[in-house]
Amino acid sequence: MNEEIPDRDSIDRLGEEASREIAESPDLKALEQTRIVWLGRKGKLTSALRSIGKLPADQRPIIGGIINEWKERLGVLFENRCAELFGSCSDKEPYPGDPTLPGRRNWEGGLHILHRVIKDIKQIFYRMGYSIAEGPDVELDYYNFEALNFPADHPSRDLQDTFYVNSDILLRTQTSPVQVRYMEKNEPPLRIISPGRVYRNETPDPSHAAEFFQIEGLYVDKDVSLADLRNDITFFVHQFFGADAKVRFRPHFFPFTEPSAEADMTCFGCRGEGCSICQKTGWIEIMGAGMVHPNVFEFAGYDPDSVTGFAFGMGIERMAMLKYGIDDIRRFLANDMRFLKQFWNETWVGVQE
Ligand code: DAH
Repeated sequence: MNEEIPDRDSIDRLGEEASREIAESPDLKALEQTRIVWLGRKGKLTSALRSIGKLPADQRPIIGGIINEWKERLGVLFENRCAELFGSCSDKEPYPGDPTLPGRRNWEGGLHILHRVIKDIKQIFYRMGYSIAEGPDVELDYYNFEALNFPADHPSRDLQDTFYVNSDILLRTQTSPVQVRYMEKNEPPLRIISPGRVYRNETPDPSHAAEFFQIEGLYVDKDVSLADLRNDITFFVHQFFGADAKVRFRPHFFPFTEPSAEADMTCFGCRGEGCSICQKTGWIEIMGAGMVHPNVFEFAGYDPDSVTGFAFGMGIERMAMLKYGIDDIRRFLANDMRFLKQFWNETWVGVQE
């Protein structure tokens, strides 16, 4: 036959050849192969149909019609042969009962460890009367730095640490901006926690990631004191890590709190004796905290002479790593099921679609 320009005879010869091959296909696999060779996207009949463009205009509908008739006829032959070989079959699902296909597997699912830790931490603060506040991941420089009393030349504003979108907009480097956003819209007294993702331009290593989670806390009222801060943090640590953990506060510096502190808890590795995990100090740092700086109240529109408050912020991966003995922050985002499954305390089961 002339491959280039199909005519009636050559089409009929093709069709008959295909019919024979369908009838002689010994099993479903061979039959599918035959179907692909003749009717597939690059099949012989399909190609013939494509080449009718080369025919004179008046010939095209005639030859095209013949090819389509054959396609239909072969389709029926194909289905019949398929039914002969195995039950029934249609184009959509060629082998409904093919026992050689892999079975449909059930899937199992569970909460990601970070999801579970966030849930647990929220529960503890709910019980102390905190509610949830949220803010955007893509944040204004104003909320992330300026309104939190960061001096213009503070090193945290350095391009090295912050992903800038442009000179005014960035990916938030901390959840602290939610403090100001929340105070702008709400009157004191207030008690909030704000969990969320934060971003830093860090090279990932076992204890650094370019994106991770924090939980911010803020309590503002009349006469809130450092003793209240100690009380809430200690309660949280006892609930989350266990009642035998001790908590201490060390003086520190944060621009948005004065005084500022870092909270430590007794090292879980040595229970305070001193080991390699805590660099022989017996203590592990768990969060930053302090009394809200008067300038921050002013930025938020509060009168610093009539309210006081405390704030704190902790890294959620860090909490999970300390509680569950996880050695590398990069594991949280690596999607290694062997790691993740260890932390499923309930699982869901479903059937694959
Ligand atoms: N934003 C701080 C950080 O990312 C953590 C922090 C420290 C939050 C002290 C606070 C605070 O609210 O009072 O390192």
